[in-house]
Order: sequence, then C-alpha cells, then structure tokens
Amino acid sequence: MTFDVESVRAQFPILGRQVNGKPLVYLDSAASAQKPQAVIDAMTAAMTNSYANVHRGLHTLANETTEAFEASRRRVASFIGADPSEIVFTKGATEAINLVASGLGQSLIAGDEILLTEMEHHANIVPWHFLRERQGVVLKFAPVLDDGRLDLDAFKALLSPRTRVAAFTHMSNVLGTVNPVAEMVAAARQVGATTLIDGCQAIVHLDVKVRDLDVDFYVFSGHKLYGPTGIGALYGKAERLAVLPPYQGGGEMIADVALDRITYADPPHRFEAGTPPILEAIGLEAALTWFQGLDRDAAAAHEHGLYHRAREGLAGANWLKVIGEAPGKGAILSFTVDGAHAHDVAQILDRYGVAVRAGAHCAEPLMRRFGVTSSLRASFALYNTEAEVDAFVDALNRTHAFFV
Ligand SMILES: Cc1ncc(COP(=O)(O)O)c(C=O)c1O
Repeated sequence: MTFDVESVRAQFPILGRQVNGKPLVYLDSAASAQKPQAVIDAMTAAMTNSYANVHRGLHTLANETTEAFEASRRRVASFIGADPSEIVFTKGATEAINLVASGLGQSLIAGDEILLTEMEHHANIVPWHFLRERQGVVLKFAPVLDDGRLDLDAFKALLSPRTRVAAFTHMSNVLGTVNPVAEMVAAARQVGATTLIDGCQAIVHLDVKVRDLDVDFYVFSGHKLYGPTGIGALYGKAERLAVLPPYQGGGEMIADVALDRITYADPPHRFEAGTPPILEAIGLEAALTWFQGLDRDAAAAHEHGLYHRAREGLAGANWLKVIGEAPGKGAILSFTVDGAHAHDVAQILDRYGVAVRAGAHCAEPLMRRFGVTSSLRASFALYNTEAEVDAFVDALNRTHAFFV
C-alpha cells in the first residue's frame, strides 16, 4: 500500500519552513505534533464567525458554540468506541490522570497498592506518588526487560488482593514499546483492581477501541494527535464515572448549590468545572475528522518504514546505543551517542534543521533502569519523509564527527 506523504505534508504549513537556513526536519512529534490546515481553519473560523461560552447561553452564538463543543465530544467518543457521556474533556492526559488519581484516592487507605510500570511517563507516576505521600498507599512498579518489553510475568506476579489500581502506558514515549494492555487489564481485573491506560502515544498510531480493551479509564492529549494544546480526553466507563468524586469545583459541574448543601451534575459535566477549552475542543474535532479521513493502516506502515530506514541507516554506527527494541514497537528511536551529552547532540542537530528531543523524556525511572541520565529521541510521524530520515542520519553522522 502506498501512502501519499507529499499530499499529507502539503496540509501542514509549518513543514515548509526553514530552520537555521536548512529545511525543517521535524522528528519530535511524540512530544507534540504539528497541526494541519484543517485544525488551524476550524479554530480561526470559530473565533471569526461563531464563538461564545458554552452550556449557559440562550442566544444563537452560545447555542452554535455549544453544539460545536458537544459535536467534538461525540467525535472523540466515536473515535475510541465510547458513549459521549463517557468522555470528559481535560486540558490533557496529565490532568486526566490527576483527576482519576485524586478521585480514586479518596477511597484508598494505607497499605493499598497501586501497580505501575517502570516505563511510565511522569504523568502516570507523580499523581500516584501524591497518594503514597499523603495516604501511605504503596506503589509497585513492574520491571522492563533489557530489550524494552514489559516483564509481563512480573507484572502479573505483582498483582495482589491489595492492588486497588493498575495504571500503565499503552505505548512508551521513550521505548516505543506497545504493551499487551488488554491482557494486563484482564489480569488486573482478576484481583479486582481498577485499570487506567495512558494512551498518549498509542492513540496516534493504533486503532484504539476502549470496549475491546475493557479498561476502566483511558486518557490521551489532543496535541499529539494533530490537534491543539490545552485539550485532552478522559474516557471512563459510565459506571466508573458515576461513582468518581468530582475533581475541581466551580460553575457548570453542579446540579444545585445552596448555602448549606450541594448536588453535582451527572458525568461528564461533573468533571468539567468552569469554562472548558472551547476553541481547543473545536480544533480537536477538526483534527480527528482530518485524521479519520486518512488511510490509517497505510499511515502506520509509512511511519514504521521511516523507523526501519533510520535503523538501517544507522546500522553501522557503533557509537550509537539504541534504547528499546521490543518486537512490534512504534516508530520511536531513542538512543545515546558515545562520548556526547544528548543535549549537545540535539543542539548540533538543530543547526542542520533537525528537531529531536533530548533529555529524560519525563521518564526518569526508566532512564535509571537503562543506566542513563538522558537520551535522544527521534519520533517519526505520518508527515515525515524518507528524505528527512536520510537527512537525519546524515546530520547525526556529521554531529558525531564533532565528538571524535
Ligand atoms: C506516554 C505519555 N503520557 C503522558 C504524557 C503527558 O501528556 P500531556 O503533557 O499532554 O499531559 C505524555 C507526553 O509526553 C506521554 O508521552
């Protein structure tokens, strides 16, 4: 199957720009993806023609904007196979995990266990640490094997009758590892644990249907999915959201407020206090519509092709160590360069117009597991080309030459 990458690229105005006198080679989409014209246009059109606050007005603009906002919720729901009432808009995956952790935390006691993995992003570690610090909840971490796979047997062995929550990433933002999440959910359910999947990376590359996974909560951010920043989604099974305590208090999340009592709105509005990210929801709707219009299997094959081209291009580089080689992994290449700090390498690559991520990738426990403090990460998106991969390989070879 061929994938017309040039016609996709043409829809991303930013990809035409130069950086340091060189054509931009953007290999940092795992941190945040660039935006297609459809998203830019949808947000501009909303601000130009039809904008007001949502859910509270009776005038035409308020009704139009409310309809656009709720259409976005319906789009997110159909994208992941959920009901719109099960979709809570948040400002991103981080806020979504904090929302769930804070709500579930209210019924946890000292000695209760939360099972995570060593490959989690800080977004899926720190909110649970809050519960450890404040309530004496015990955090357990399933180990990662040398090739970047999760040690699934260890994960299962760490589940116990005291495990109240199991929260894990669908796809690692550093290793690219795709975890067997349906199997993990099923195992966690056997001990009665509530499950949460961090889908930030997976949602961009895999066809995610939450009912197939049978997970209780699934979270992701819009900005990695070609949408705007400031919006993400929390999917929660209807029966789970129904009993989850509210997160923030304010307007629009209540049914009735008096001086001496309060009742809350039903989900999802119970979890959306205050004015929500309206324009961002409209942008996310446009991003998903755009994305669903693509041949996603072909896009995924294209991304994998780019990853393998980079691996082959760097096969002879004995000065480079790859972190994460799990079978079936996503199009993320993390590596270190012998004798050079990742930040220095990234800065020199930038002189060649090549944008990669360098640092700990908000995954310090994972970095420690692999005995490094930082690494470089090239992440390949559907708008990247083979020529860009070759430019990256060439720039990396030249960069390495600085250090020998
Ligand atoms: C796997 C994973 N989880 C969570 C996050 C946090 O996402 P956000 O910063 O959009 O809330 C990221 C972002 O890098 C990620 O890659």
